Amino acid sequence: MINVKHFVFSDYADKYGHLVPIEQNKDVPFEIKRVYYIHNVPYGVRRGFHSHYNLHQMLICVNGNVKILTKTPYEEEVTVLDSPEKGLYIGPMIWREMYEFSSNAVLLVLASELYSVPDYIRDYSLYEGEAKKYF
Ligand code: TYD
Repeated sequence: MINVKHFVFSDYADKYGHLVPIEQNKDVPFEIKRVYYIHNVPYGVRRGFHSHYNLHQMLICVNGNVKILTKTPYEEEVTVLDSPEKGLYIGPMIWREMYEFSSNAVLLVLASELYSVPDYIRDYSLYEGEAKKYF
């Protein structure tokens, strides 16, 4: 869907294990200014419920699995992140919700900007209006 893209990273495996390298502007389509990860999410919790005006992000479930709903006023899809090789790119003006975190899930997020409260849209009706102007 628009502003959402699925990535598969190179996984270098040998008898010593696996290694997945990620470089800005090469493996991800932006410069990485911030990294955070979500872990130990209690059973049944659904989080996210927001969009960003300008932020580009890459979501990688480096352990366990999680579902991600991405949505605009015109389309939506659900992505299962269940491998450290898989990345979900989410660009500007996409509503996202994250749910069904496995108990061991670690969701790593690479972000193009520093944390910015004004960049968030947390109210869905405000989001719908802004997204209809944007898309
Ligand atoms: P929040 O955006 O509510 O998480 P989600 O939308 O994924 O459910 O963030 C949870 C808390 O973490 C909130 O108090 C803000 C803080 N936070 C930072 O300080 N820096 C960050 O980069 C992020 C993403 C969150």
